[in-house]
Amino acid sequence: MNERISPPQPLVAASHANAADYEAMYRRSLSDPDGFWREQAGRIGWIREPTRIADWSFDPVDIKWFEDGVLNLCWNCVDRHLESRADQTAFLFEGDEPGEGRSISYGALYREVVRMANCLKAMGVAKGDRVTIYMPMIPEAAVAMLACARIGAVHSVVFGGFSPDAIHGRIEDAASRFVVTADGGKRGGKLVPLKANVDAALARGAEIDGVLVVRHLGCDIQWVEGRDHWYHELGETVPDECPCEPMNAEDPLFILYTSGSTGKPKGVLHTTGGYAVWTATTFHYVFDYKPGEIFWCTADVGWVTGHSYVVYGPLANGATSLIFEGVPNYPDFSRFWDVVERQRVNIFYTAPTAIRALMREGEGPVTKHDRSSLRLLGSVGEPINPEAWRWYWDVVGEQRCPVVDTWWQTETGGIMITTLPGAHDMKPGSAGRPFFGVDPQLVGPDGEVLSGAASGNLCLVGSWPGQMRSVYGDHQRFVQTYFSTYAGKYFTGDGCRRDEDGYYWITGRVDDVLNISGHRLGTAEIESALVGHAAVAEAAVVGYPHDIKGQGIYCYVTLMEGIEPTPELEKDLRAHVRTEISPIASPDLIHFTPALPKTRSGKIMRRILRKIAENDYSSLGDTSTLADPSLVDVLIDERKKK
Ligand code: WTA
Repeated sequence: MNERISPPQPLVAASHANAADYEAMYRRSLSDPDGFWREQAGRIGWIREPTRIADWSFDPVDIKWFEDGVLNLCWNCVDRHLESRADQTAFLFEGDEPGEGRSISYGALYREVVRMANCLKAMGVAKGDRVTIYMPMIPEAAVAMLACARIGAVHSVVFGGFSPDAIHGRIEDAASRFVVTADGGKRGGKLVPLKANVDAALARGAEIDGVLVVRHLGCDIQWVEGRDHWYHELGETVPDECPCEPMNAEDPLFILYTSGSTGKPKGVLHTTGGYAVWTATTFHYVFDYKPGEIFWCTADVGWVTGHSYVVYGPLANGATSLIFEGVPNYPDFSRFWDVVERQRVNIFYTAPTAIRALMREGEGPVTKHDRSSLRLLGSVGEPINPEAWRWYWDVVGEQRCPVVDTWWQTETGGIMITTLPGAHDMKPGSAGRPFFGVDPQLVGPDGEVLSGAASGNLCLVGSWPGQMRSVYGDHQRFVQTYFSTYAGKYFTGDGCRRDEDGYYWITGRVDDVLNISGHRLGTAEIESALVGHAAVAEAAVVGYPHDIKGQGIYCYVTLMEGIEPTPELEKDLRAHVRTEISPIASPDLIHFTPALPKTRSGKIMRRILRKIAENDYSSLGDTSTLADPSLVDVLIDERKKK
């Protein structure tokens, strides 16, 4: 399918960039990056303007942008708006229960951020310290991030759905001595015991100086005197002013853990200046944001999408950003559109998995709500299949609202490939064209650069300001993971096709990273959780196509000698993975097998396991190198029963 849909005309006329603007700006962004990004850096208020713009190398790997610039991103997101829009809403909060929530003006946000920053200082947090934030989707989560940025502390947000083990690992890796959490959170009517999870994580051993607890639900919690502090109590005792720490552009802003193809999650490190410019610029152009509009990104702040497009991008632009605590199907499947109607949302940004789940419920839940406020729709997190794209465009947006499908990664800091709403025709299923400063390259099986219409591995040549700078505490892992596959290029881990119009079609990960409902999970993490169970001898995890989630988790499991597979054991294994990692990592299918297919040298043949999980037996390739080729038929027989 190669259908083209033009953006509605009135929108083109009013947009920040039309087709001619895009072409000229894109060309200049590559031919004169210093000039281009010097101008875009003007979106940010600098304490000292940068004179050095781009300074990077991919071999050896050393990336710097705006190196001699000095700024504070919290000041850019909060203080600088006080003069012109102190009374304008910064955050609109919609709680888990419909209609529960509040709105927070820029003036009120300033006071909250100052209070939180002073609480952190009172606990002993200093510039450069890492602060772990484990919060529900409530405004205080964003306030905690901004408070860190204000005093130069480095935040490490851990998604509120992660288990105590996962929190513990991230606290240890970041050597973080401070935690900000809440008593509990609510999602879809269910209580999430956040404070109890933090207690359990810290009980595994960690050197912690203080835990700041936001009272959100008023639920019962345990308390450790001297370590734990109520935000509302400590907040009463602190001053009502807190200067913004002047930060060098390359000072760290945050760490965010993300799954890779091997081992434990990596701490993706972003720095201040480049990230600020990248999120501010992409937000302005991709969402074509106009003053006064209400922007709603449904992502949790526990993911990069929440960092860049709930908090930093919108606030750097003085926008009104909606924070939603709940889920799309609570109390029913019309919740998104109920919120859109009541809050008069103009720009709506969500993930294909949500769109597919809502699409299954039919048009009724959508059309019963007034969506006339909507002007633009966005998609992120995984490839959007053309059927879901169509439904989004036809039913949700009534063919009035351009759809921007935005490809990017935790590592890229912000949007990299997308159509611009006033500049490009849309093609359902294609992310679109490179954003300013993004130079994609497709590479073939032998490392050759492919030109024109082609399919290959997606690399980026040349740096962009929002690029991650390192893996926290392990620069070698950064180099190894992203720059060693193809020398001198950043390898994304994604496969991709470029069509004759220069549009990019992302086909998904080509490494051992799964994308489950838009969440990244490494197969290695799930395997290690499985083999941590006493009954499991060996496990291999692969993805397979799943109607709603995009990919499902398929686990091949070999049990310890003498242990028989039972439905109870299967249930137990699922529960085990959920508590070890998170409910999002819960196995969809568990396939007990007497052995895993291995080469004679003992390497698991994942290619074969993937094909079998995908129910694709026609192209298993060469199985003769297997130590036991007959195993393949046994595996296929069992697969057919699933
Ligand atoms: C996938 C989320 C196709 C891709 C912002 C990437 C996408 C991974 C899209 C990063 C899209 C994200 N179309 N695939 N529009 N957006 N992906 O780090 O495989 O959670 O490498 O960042 O999600 O996931 P991450």
